[in-house]
Amino acid sequence: MSSDRVVDLLKTAYADEIETVMNYQTNAIVLDGVRAEEIKESLKQDVQEELGHAEQLGQRLKQLDARPPGSAEFPAGQESLQPPEDSTDVLAVINGVLDAEEDAIATYRDLIDAAEAADDPVTEDLAVTLLSDEEAHRTEFRGFQKEYQRE
Ligand SMILES: [Fe+2]
Ligand SMILES: [Fe+2]
Repeated sequence: MSSDRVVDLLKTAYADEIETVMNYQTNAIVLDGVRAEEIKESLKQDVQEELGHAEQLGQRLKQLDARPPGSAEFPAGQESLQPPEDSTDVLAVINGVLDAEEDAIATYRDLIDAAEAADDPVTEDLAVTLLSDEEAHRTEFRGFQKEYQRE
């Protein structure tokens, strides 16, 4: 059996993934301009991936006799990922995405440590897989950031 710390981190990660889905989706709709197209496509793809992450975290919570939270317990926190006032401000969204990915990376690192301490290799394995996905997202958006900062 796993620890309370593992269950808490799984719930936090679940809520963060759902918030990420909401903000990526919103920004994929809100952004305007020819140069935004690639970013919008990438965000749309990531919406599906992040939703898949939430599902896996929720299923793991269930296997641990816990459950994922509903919206009443939703602690929204992604300030930098709110849709920008100027709908052509693609760089603001890219920076917001990088904040969200860094946050997810930190949570999955904490989850790996907590799961290892609790002798819960199944949760640890899940956290390693999700960490690898988030690092790939970060790399992609760092590339976008480089390009946009040059201009
Ligand atoms: Fe994710
Ligand atoms: Fe991600």
